[in-house]
Amino acid sequence: MKIGTALTKGATKALLLGSGELGKELTISLQRYGIEVIAVDRYQNAPAQHVAHRSHVINMTDTDAMKKLIALEQPDFIIPEIEAIATQALADIEKEGGCTVIPNARAIQLTMNREGIRTLAAEQLKIPTSNYAFAQSFEELQAVVDNSIGYPCFIKPTMSSSGKGQSKVKNPEQLKQAWDYAQSRGRTVTGKIIVEAEIDFDFEITLLTVRALNQNDEVETYFCQPIGHRQENGDYRESWQPQKMSIPALKTAQEIAFKVTSEIGGRGLFGVELFIKGDTVLFNEVSPRPHDTGMVTMVTQKQNEFELHARAILGLPVNTALRQAGASAVILGSFDAQGVGYEGLAEALAVPESEIRLFAKPESFVNRRMGIALANAETVREARERAVKAASLVSINHGGK
Ligand SMILES: Nc1ncnc2c1ncn2[C@@H]1O[C@H](COP(=O)(O)OP(=O)(O)OP(=O)(O)O)[C@@H](O)[C@H]1O
Ligand SMILES: [Mg+2]
Repeated sequence: MKIGTALTKGATKALLLGSGELGKELTISLQRYGIEVIAVDRYQNAPAQHVAHRSHVINMTDTDAMKKLIALEQPDFIIPEIEAIATQALADIEKEGGCTVIPNARAIQLTMNREGIRTLAAEQLKIPTSNYAFAQSFEELQAVVDNSIGYPCFIKPTMSSSGKGQSKVKNPEQLKQAWDYAQSRGRTVTGKIIVEAEIDFDFEITLLTVRALNQNDEVETYFCQPIGHRQENGDYRESWQPQKMSIPALKTAQEIAFKVTSEIGGRGLFGVELFIKGDTVLFNEVSPRPHDTGMVTMVTQKQNEFELHARAILGLPVNTALRQAGASAVILGSFDAQGVGYEGLAEALAVPESEIRLFAKPESFVNRRMGIALANAETVREARERAVKAASLVSINHGGK
């Protein structure tokens, strides 16, 4: 493709919807190819806005506001980084032509709602998943749990991410509380939830899958080495690459990822979340964009997930090869405050082969991801130990410097 010069009339422009830490790295990757990046978020000074050419603060679930912004900026690419977006605006813009939604508007629509992607995977593509049902009232929920799902089970708002509104229910006494919690934290007014039987998995992975152009200008599917991760309350705490797994399980994982991403279509990187038990692989969900657990690729791959996404978007060749084993561990806020300060970086970086990223979010909340530690080592085990140690040495305090 032909690329213009950023900040001139002929610039090739990318409108980034969502400006978190993943968007920040993607902005840097796009800018390395001379793309003009406009970073949008619901609040000012979100991480990607620190490095983008320009930024806007709007409510991205407001269809009119989104359309106005797109008309103003006239981007070549619209790249969603978050799930909560006015998808109708994207569908309309896509239909008008002249601008590419990454990977496409339908993908954004399908994946922002658990019902869309789960129904597509389980019912249309016949891919194995946990047993599940949807419910729109507490009575309906109680009936499906009693009749088919059983305990323990997971309750999740159909529209939510990062574990928001999600809880594990061990017995009937906890069901009402889980219903109320899902209602209070979901993003939808419909109040619909998905209830899933618990999967007793050996481990879970993110299989980063890239749909990019090959040398014949055809879309080809490429896989990164599996990323293992540990979650707490629906949010990731540690990830590592490569996750060791059996050859049959890896083959099945790649087949599932191929099926789901081919159905979604478009170009870009996808994070396919899978549960593994023995040689059995169950599909959980997919992000049509870089994945938080994939931040580990900043130290493990020659082309990290952001570089891969940027290349796939721009029609450039990709290489998903692993360079070295590594791990990531999150640095979380432990109190609510603005303009926090960070200490212990020197100690953290004294951990061999470690790196630290601080996202400079203007406000810290309890359990908000404020940074991550990354580390390499000969083995995944040692890399994990190093990343966790480095993360633990960074402390967050009140009041900046
Ligand atoms: N049915 C299940 N059985 C066992 N564990 C589950 C199940 N559903 C979810 N989990 C656990 O909770 C985590 C988060 O669930 P899920 O990915 O569905 O939520 P999410 O809010 O979309 O999270 P994120 O946006 O961070 O990916 C999973 O990675 C897994 O560890
Ligand atoms: Mg998930």
